[in-house]
Amino acid sequence: MNIDELESVARAIVARQKGVLAADESSPTIKKRFASIAVESTEENRRRYRELLFTSDGIERTLGGVILFDETLRQSTRDGVPFPKLLSGRGIAPGIKVDEGAKALARYPGDRVTEGLDGLRERLVEYRQLGARFAKWRAVIDIDERDIPTAFAIRANAHALARYAALCQEEGLVPIVEPEVLMDGAHGIERCEAVTAQVLEAVFAELDAHRVLLEGMLLKPNMVIAGMKCVRQAGVQEVAVATIRCLRRHVPAAVPGIVFLSGGQSAEDATDHLNAMNAMGRQPWELSFSYGRALQAPVLAAWQGLDANVAAAQRALSKRCHLNGLARNGSYARSMEEDG
Ligand code: 13P
Repeated sequence: MNIDELESVARAIVARQKGVLAADESSPTIKKRFASIAVESTEENRRRYRELLFTSDGIERTLGGVILFDETLRQSTRDGVPFPKLLSGRGIAPGIKVDEGAKALARYPGDRVTEGLDGLRERLVEYRQLGARFAKWRAVIDIDERDIPTAFAIRANAHALARYAALCQEEGLVPIVEPEVLMDGAHGIERCEAVTAQVLEAVFAELDAHRVLLEGMLLKPNMVIAGMKCVRQAGVQEVAVATIRCLRRHVPAAVPGIVFLSGGQSAEDATDHLNAMNAMGRQPWELSFSYGRALQAPVLAAWQGLDANVAAAQRALSKRCHLNGLARNGSYARSMEEDG
């Protein structure tokens, strides 16, 4: 295990102003995203769309990494440049989603556990050869107002995350450890904070037991936020304060960076929340983004599958990257959304 390399890759991904673009939608997920703009999910359309993303102007200023799906890691630009090579050439680390999705947890109705550990070591070797420098595994923590998640489901997911992270480090890939407490549901922000705290505590206990090097990983958590159907939605400042409190209590200072998922927040809210947290002053870790929908929703809306719209779609991505880069040090303002 090359400790220096793991640490320097992890730190480069969250360097000043930088964060991650999650463009690792699995085939069923990208099909859903394309359906929202009436684009058919063919292999060529997926390739065209990813080429649009990765060739956008100026994104290397604020993207330290891009997470890819298996198919995308093997695809190339129209001119034949493999995507991992294109990205590393721009100074952006290529990453790879390696989990195989969340499945119902046997005997625990309402809970899920993420699969994908079988054969993972061999897959990681190949991914590294294809150019990946980091990886992602998403644990999905369902939440309701009472019994879900069970303590057992939290433990099962934390255990899988830690086994994945240890394997990644052994094979020279920086693991992004993603325990996502979902935003779906009617629970309040207090319940989200309590569950997120329990989940982070379990995750770091398992990472420790599995001898994962904290300096050579990144954490990708949810923000502490009310469920989407909750009647009382917390304000931006309340989300920032609760999220920082929860992270300070449960994330060791040795972790170089925390890169939030957007989880269904609007692009503007996700940027605003990150900005408010960074405006609270320095924390032990870099606080950054690893957004999927919050970076791509405006891009898809501008693109509509048409070559004629590629330039406009690329401008939409460059703008979101730029604004999130500003949110990295608390210098974003909502009024900037109106500027060109
Ligand atoms: P969202 O930002 O759309 O939640 O996606 C991030 C991600 O990678 C989820 O695994």
